Amino acid sequence: MRNWRRVLVAFALFGGALTGAGSWAADGPPRAEGEAKGLVLRGDARCTECHDEVDAPEKLAIGKTRHGTVADGRTPSCVSCHGESEKHVNEAGRGSGPTPPVDVGFTAKNPAGAEARNGACLACHQGSTRIFWQNSTHSRRDVTCTSCHKVHDGHDKVRDAASQPEVCMTCHKEQRAQMARPSHHPVPEGSMSCSSCHNVHGDNPSQLAKNSVNETCFSCHAEKRGPFVHNHQPVSEDCTICHNPHGTILSNLLKARPPYLCQECHSHDSHPSQLAVLPGDRTTSTSVLGTVGRGCLNCHTNIHGGNSTVNSATAGRFRR
Ligand code: HEC
Ligand code: HEC
Ligand code: HEC
Ligand code: HEC
Ligand code: HEC
Ligand code: HEC
Ligand code: HEC
Ligand code: HEC
Ligand code: HEC
Ligand code: HEC
Repeated sequence: MRNWRRVLVAFALFGGALTGAGSWAADGPPRAEGEAKGLVLRGDARCTECHDEVDAPEKLAIGKTRHGTVADGRTPSCVSCHGESEKHVNEAGRGSGPTPPVDVGFTAKNPAGAEARNGACLACHQGSTRIFWQNSTHSRRDVTCTSCHKVHDGHDKVRDAASQPEVCMTCHKEQRAQMARPSHHPVPEGSMSCSSCHNVHGDNPSQLAKNSVNETCFSCHAEKRGPFVHNHQPVSEDCTICHNPHGTILSNLLKARPPYLCQECHSHDSHPSQLAVLPGDRTTSTSVLGTVGRGCLNCHTNIHGGNSTVNSATAGRFRR
């Protein structure tokens, strides 16, 4: 049976029946009715003849992924990703010489160039969120589709919120450290993931999901969008002026503790330049009120913008 199929394959190849890459993917090889061998992908017999349950059981888990939906005419065969690999098919395991590599290898042992590897995937996946892949930071830094996606595993870790951060943080150590700090988005807990904020296939600044920091934040923190009667300029400009989205030691993801945070910008002669102390005497003058306890935010509670029109001279200062 095996030999018979090899002859058939050879005949098809040398007889010129296969004219271009992808013919197998389109039609698949002839497949006998009731064939015992469980072919996991469309038209994979040319490869699974050798890479079968005995030789590579873990590789066949690809059959459990979306790529294994054989009823879907758009799904790949082995050769869609690895190339026709004629030399490999004909010479692998024969003679004493080394096994010739496949056309497109994805492992350290037989690496094709980044472009060839990505090209194998983009042939089908250039659309959707990957439309600007070529301009993304990842692409420009030679990070490939398969640096993140494990296509042969039944479980592609990077697409599961719970396991995704582990994949990213093998390269992004700084974010790993930040996510471990006391104040962080619930990413380590698994209820959010890096891709809640990032489209790692895209070319937005910092590969964000939306085209600015604030638009990204507003997708969940809509109440901070405004417009408010009284806007606070840095808030409208960029949330990361005050917050580190990945994690901080201070509460509320703050980069610095008030009053110091505020005094990076507000430091002139009136009370904004005061340190957090209690006033020495009974007074209502803001110039000697100090910043009391929690500091500036005791009074300027609506720091992201306020809508109060009561006594608007002071309400304009983000007080209730
Ligand atoms: C005649 C048997 C045979 C056929 C047919 C065959 N292979 Fe292989 N393949 C092997 C052997 C033997 C190895 C070497 C295994 C090793 O070194 O561990 C191998 C290794 C590989 C590797 C790992 C090395 C590399 O070059 O990246 C890949 C990937 C691979 N085969 C894919 C395929 C694909 C895709 C097909 C179908 C187009 C195919 N094979 C058809 C026997 C075969
Ligand atoms: C969607 C693209 C894709 C398809 C389809 C595909 N492969 Fe792979 N293959 C890969 C990638 C990527 C790797 C690298 C390991 C990984 O990501 O899991 C790989 C790794 C391998 C390896 C192991 C190489 C090594 O040394 O570890 C073998 C063998 C292999 N593939 C054979 C096959 C066979 C046989 C088929 C058809 C049943 C197939 N592949 C279908 C993309 C694909
Ligand atoms: C021959 C076309 C083809 C090739 C080549 C191909 N894919 Fe796919 N892929 C598909 C189809 C069809 C689906 C089914 C889901 C869909 O409708 O998009 C799919 C699904 C996926 C999914 C899962 C999407 C989901 O909704 O679950 C991922 C991830 C993926 N492919 C990654 C890759 C990567 C990485 C490569 C290259 C190593 C690759 N694909 C190569 C056609 C292809
Ligand atoms: C830096 C890691 C990373 C790289 C590199 C990467 N991906 Fe993804 N991919 C992801 C993550 C994370 C998701 C899940 C996105 C989500 O949950 O919104 C995903 C989702 C997908 C999906 C399924 C959902 C969809 O958008 O249709 C496909 C298909 C896909 N990627 C293909 C590719 C291809 C093709 C490449 C290479 C051109 C690639 N990916 C490169 C991390 C990556
Ligand atoms: C194989 C290593 C690798 C993996 C895995 C990886 N990245 Fe990256 N990433 C890089 C490299 C290299 C850069 C270029 C900048 C740098 O050196 O940090 C980068 C840059 C970025 C940037 C900054 C983009 C910019 O334009 O400034 C973001 C955001 C990012 N990665 C998110 C992710 C996320 C989210 C994941 C997981 C879904 C991920 N990365 C997985 C290697 C990786
Ligand atoms: C709540 C939204 C959010 C989440 C979740 C998130 N990021 Fe980011 N990330 C951002 C924003 C906003 C920026 C750009 C501003 C900045 O550099 O602080 C950024 C920037 C980055 C950068 C570039 C940093 C630099 O110095 O240029 C990397 C790398 C990165 N993120 C990786 C990750 C990884 C990995 C994860 C998951 C562990 C993750 N991010 C989760 C919002 C997020
Ligand atoms: C995908 C939804 C989502 C996005 C996008 C998002 N956040 Fe959040 N954010 C959350 C969730 C969920 C919490 C946790 C709420 C809780 O723990 O009660 C949170 C909490 C916070 C907190 C309070 C943290 C603390 O210690 O209590 C701050 C500050 C914050 N986010 C800022 C941002 C900024 C800045 C951005 C944009 C870079 C952003 N968020 C984007 C969902 C999101
Ligand atoms: C001028 C500095 C500053 C900027 C800019 C800023 N914040 Fe804040 N944010 C704060 C401070 C201070 C707190 C703590 C408030 C408290 O202790 O009452 C906070 C708390 C939060 C919280 C948690 C408590 C709450 O009010 O829900 C979220 C969520 C938040 N900010 C989101 C954002 C988003 C989204 C942006 C961008 C649109 C942003 N912040 C921009 C200073 C800032
Ligand atoms: C990145 C710089 C920056 C930071 C940090 C910052 N602010 Fe502001 N703030 C501004 C700017 C710019 C204005 C607008 C000034 C103007 O209109 O004269 C403003 C306006 C204000 C006003 C209203 C002033 C007025 O005259 O109406 C108050 C009150 C205020 N900020 C309080 C705070 C507090 C409290 C903090 C700390 C939680 C803070 N700011 C952090 C830049 C900053
Ligand atoms: C006890 C309440 C209180 C505290 C604490 C407080 N403020 Fe104010 N702040 C006010 C009031 C009331 C006004 C408006 C009346 C005025 O200008 O005196 C104001 C006005 C401002 C203004 C605009 C006018 C000006 O004087 O420049 C800024 C900026 C400001 N505060 C920043 C801060 C900062 C920064 C802190 C923390 C170091 C802080 N405030 C602490 C009550 C307070």
